[in-house]
Amino acid sequence: MKEDTKLVHLGRGPSSFEGTVNLPVYRASTILSADVDSYIHRFDDDKNLTDITYGARGTQNSRALGEAIAELEGGYGTIVTTSGLSAISVALGALVSAGDHLLVSDSVYGPTRTFCNQVLTRYGVTTEYYSPDIGVSIAELIQENTRLVFMEAPGSLTFEMQDIPGITRVAKEQGVLTVMDNTWATPVFFRPLEHGVDISIQAGTKYIAGHSDLVIGMVTSSSEATHRMLVSHAHNLGDAASPDDCYLALRGLRTLSVRLCRQQESTLKVATWLADQPQVYRVLYPALADDPGHALWKRDFKGASSLPWTEKPFMLRVHIGLEDPEDLIADLTQGLARI
Ligand SMILES: Cc1ncc(COP(=O)(O)O)c(C=O)c1O
Repeated sequence: MKEDTKLVHLGRGPSSFEGTVNLPVYRASTILSADVDSYIHRFDDDKNLTDITYGARGTQNSRALGEAIAELEGGYGTIVTTSGLSAISVALGALVSAGDHLLVSDSVYGPTRTFCNQVLTRYGVTTEYYSPDIGVSIAELIQENTRLVFMEAPGSLTFEMQDIPGITRVAKEQGVLTVMDNTWATPVFFRPLEHGVDISIQAGTKYIAGHSDLVIGMVTSSSEATHRMLVSHAHNLGDAASPDDCYLALRGLRTLSVRLCRQQESTLKVATWLADQPQVYRVLYPALADDPGHALWKRDFKGASSLPWTEKPFMLRVHIGLEDPEDLIADLTQGLARI
């Protein structure tokens, strides 16, 4: 099945739901068991991974969304969490232990950094920030206790690209896990697992949901072992996305590719115009040919979105010569309205 066709069909099962095209919303806390024996054994073995056992451990809606994302990412399994940030904190919490050392990109999404600095430090985990242009030289920062490398490309708000295949190759050689926040590209424009990443994270709040009306996160693992660790940690924390949000996110998925392609087209138009304005020092956007990350973006990514804020699809980072910022920004805003 083609990728765009998958976006339309994944997560649907009309034959299991009396013919309804879309999976209905299953709001649930307690799940009744058919008999005493199945109640007693409801958490045994792999039931954690497959069965609906309690609302805070997932519903039909989170299962359908998780299966759809796992298929799009080409992963073993996906957990669905209450927000993009909880996807990051659940993933990090599941994978690290006291005494571990983490390598995190210096241009990572701000709250990821705050989580490492304010929470993980209290649990005895140290974080070292690396320059996003480090490439295979990341080998020099890997220590005996380095547990994982956390990447994000392009970086939040400053848009640096990274040599993802180079970093994952070196990390694999040293037995270090790699995690990537892939919110900006989504699996439509970049599939991290195909480039060696072990765990791919989405703030589904942004492009997947697409309409600024919910928060949700997804963590996809390439292996069964890490997927099990993530499922178990999310259960321990009681982190489970609401069925209504899963329903809406699955609906957003249907139009993901169409929206991204249109946003790419519009953003490129705006970026090119801005780059020509005398007041603008530089536009940070890897799809522009003179962007420092352009070659990596072109080599690895299938497309470019905008900033991951769906309500502002055209926003990019612009460096403006700051003589009189208010006037200059007003001029630019008027010009933009004419494009
Ligand atoms: C790159 C990136 N990752 C994660 C998040 C967190 O997502 P949420 O707002 O759903 O917690 C955001 C939100 O802006 C983001 O831009």
